[in-house]
Amino acid sequence: MRVSAYEDRVYIHKPSAATPDSNLADDVRAGLTAALKMLPPKYFYDEIGSELFEQICATPEYYPTRIEHGLLEDVVDKIVDLSEPKVIVELGSGSSRKTELLLQAVLSVQPTLRYIPIDVSEKALIDAGERLVQRFLPLTVDALLADYEEGLKHERVREQQARKLFVFLGGTIGNFDHDEAVELMSSIRRQMGDDDRFLLGADRVKDHDALHRAYNDERGITAQFNLNVLRVINRELDAAFDLQTFEHHAFYDPELSRIEMHLISKLAQRVPIRALDLTVEFGRRESILTEISRKFTVQGLTQLIEEADLVVERHYEPENRYFSLILARPA
Ligand code: AVJ
Repeated sequence: MRVSAYEDRVYIHKPSAATPDSNLADDVRAGLTAALKMLPPKYFYDEIGSELFEQICATPEYYPTRIEHGLLEDVVDKIVDLSEPKVIVELGSGSSRKTELLLQAVLSVQPTLRYIPIDVSEKALIDAGERLVQRFLPLTVDALLADYEEGLKHERVREQQARKLFVFLGGTIGNFDHDEAVELMSSIRRQMGDDDRFLLGADRVKDHDALHRAYNDERGITAQFNLNVLRVINRELDAAFDLQTFEHHAFYDPELSRIEMHLISKLAQRVPIRALDLTVEFGRRESILTEISRKFTVQGLTQLIEEADLVVERHYEPENRYFSLILARPA
């Protein structure tokens, strides 16, 4: 594990002896031997994938990051006023660019703050942690290199007695189907005291073309991001995917209100995954579902929040209603 140059103020905790990828082997075996092949989206985010995701956020087509950032800028003081956090726990912090607005706003009204980002990308955690402690002198960063479930049950989260704000931005809640989303939000809820708050960012149902374009950018960065998961499997599991033989396919399904992202095998082929002692067979045009990204109505979000035993305290949206920020508290 790497140690930050700001050792005394940026801690990187690895929850268990296991790496965040410890389930990669099991997940790949299960996903690629299923009748409808699939892979969990958390494996996109190695160093290259995390960098590609940052590039997606900068494309003109991918509106969520910009819209959510602008919205948060507008309402951050109200959120801080209502939540008054001494600790911020963030799921999937990535570059922490949007959270920086929150940290800034909190530290303008109180002297100290502890930030606990949870992410599967070590480089993202270190880069963000170092940037943040340089900018904010009274800040300590206690990063958890873990997936969400692992991170949430870590003692660093459980031992916090002061008022907490849990943050889950970017619309990543859309990666989970309904039941999984309720389960994840319920695990957040279980870590919350009566005065704690949960801030959720979620992408909204909108014009289908705008949705389609956001996952099919002109420069093909989303395509590279999607294909990168095969490179991860090649490296980590000694597999032999030829990235040239797969193509990116992303579309909006209005019935399910979700983007589906697939990798399609351009030809019939067999791909060995040596570390699993497995050869995966693909028919011509057979697909792997690599991500779902659900788009919500306000009503759908409210229901989700309530099923996790939370209530909506505030709902914020921009004029074009492209995105929602919800501040929730325990029911
Ligand atoms: C990081 C999960 C919010 O679903 O929009 C972006 C990931 N995939 N382009 C999303 C993603 C393709 C993104 N999240």
